[in-house]
Amino acid sequence: MNVLLIGSGGREHALAWKIAQSSLLDTLFVAPGNPGTIRHGRNAEVDLRDAKAMRRFLLENRIRIVVVGPESPLVGGVHDRLAADPQLQDVTVIGPKAEGARLEGSKDFAKEFMFRHNIPTAAHRTFIKGQLQEALDHLDRINAPYVIKADGLAAGKGVIITNDKKEAAKALREMLQQGRFGEAGERVVIEQHLKGIELSAFLVTDGESFKMLPAAKDYKRIGRGDTGPNTGGMGAVSPAPFADKDFMQKVHDRIAAPTVRGLKKDGIAYQGFLFIGLMNVDGDPYVIEYNVRLGDPETQAILPRLKSDLLDLFEGIASGTLSERHVDVDDRTAVSIVLAAEGYPEEYEKGKTILGVDMVRDAYVFQAGTRLKGDKLVTNGGRVMTVTGMGKDLESAIASAYRAASVIAYDGKYMRDDIGHDLVKQPAQRAGAVAR
Ligand code: AMP
Ligand code: GLY
Repeated sequence: MNVLLIGSGGREHALAWKIAQSSLLDTLFVAPGNPGTIRHGRNAEVDLRDAKAMRRFLLENRIRIVVVGPESPLVGGVHDRLAADPQLQDVTVIGPKAEGARLEGSKDFAKEFMFRHNIPTAAHRTFIKGQLQEALDHLDRINAPYVIKADGLAAGKGVIITNDKKEAAKALREMLQQGRFGEAGERVVIEQHLKGIELSAFLVTDGESFKMLPAAKDYKRIGRGDTGPNTGGMGAVSPAPFADKDFMQKVHDRIAAPTVRGLKKDGIAYQGFLFIGLMNVDGDPYVIEYNVRLGDPETQAILPRLKSDLLDLFEGIASGTLSERHVDVDDRTAVSIVLAAEGYPEEYEKGKTILGVDMVRDAYVFQAGTRLKGDKLVTNGGRVMTVTGMGKDLESAIASAYRAASVIAYDGKYMRDDIGHDLVKQPAQRAGAVAR
């Protein structure tokens, strides 16, 4: 079968690599893809918003499955548009329709959903434009740290966490009064602060049943020891030792199962991936956020551990028989390190020649912000690529990933040098109680 994968980051390179291993695959197309995805399929230009061009592309190339990597086309309704086209009834989209994508596209919607279905999450209040005074009064009633979130998609910048009430009030004014984040900030969620350690949990669902995928810990801050500004993610470890079997069972029972059930109850047909951002608070999971896609760089750590055929799982979604499929996971640990451009997540330069990609042995290189300039590979983004090392334990996976990362060279290469270090020798890991 032919597959179209949408996206161009490290996550999509990892997806392309994994899909290309399937015996069910004829041809993989990636739109727009990157120089890494060319190794696993054909990169193509298709304008997702142009319904006619999309239809022509899908029919001409006999595409059966469209896998949507990033959230914004889903929130924008790409699935709805394809599903509404009578000529495309044989095409299955992996990724929810716009209504389901609101789990990521609107924090208020996600909070109301969790409240309705008794899914553990931080307590919250929502305020809309015109309710600035009520929001400021609310700040007076709660304790620091203050967690303030723009309701809509704000490219990861819409969350402010601060101990300073003045700063919190300023953020509220900016969003509710001054139009910061535009429409995304016209509705604001103020949330209880959760203390604990974060985990990215993943599942696939056909709307009826679901399968948990391996979970991972993401490293969001730019600097060593989790300091400096937030980024899209600077590294990932899978499995995370603190997410032991017991904890993952709670995630399954208290969060994943009621979420899939809740979607069904609400009449939201959801098919595709669901990424549950969790906080482990003294051994109990609380949802921080839903994303309607896989994580980046978590995907680059979890897919190398997935032994099952991903296309077989997609077929299960297409035919509504996901419950009959199997998810087998490699026991080894995967550590992913993001190689970024100096200056990221703020300003950075592009166009630096990259050397060493083909010299990496015993590790995976997933490209992201790269471009071909003639036959030279050059940097073309803030997160340039992810390197994933595997090992029988966390220490050896860390060593393997850093060994591989050191082989790659370009001007201004930046990476965190402590990915996974905080997790080494945790009690649960010593006891061998690590689950996936
Ligand atoms: P979000 O965009 O909702 O994932 O928030 C971005 C980051 O802010 C999360 O990854 C957490 O590190 C942090 N965060 C969000 N909500 C909370 C909360 N209620 N308590 C503590 N930290 C939070
Ligand atoms: N790494 C976090 C995310 O993909 O949102």
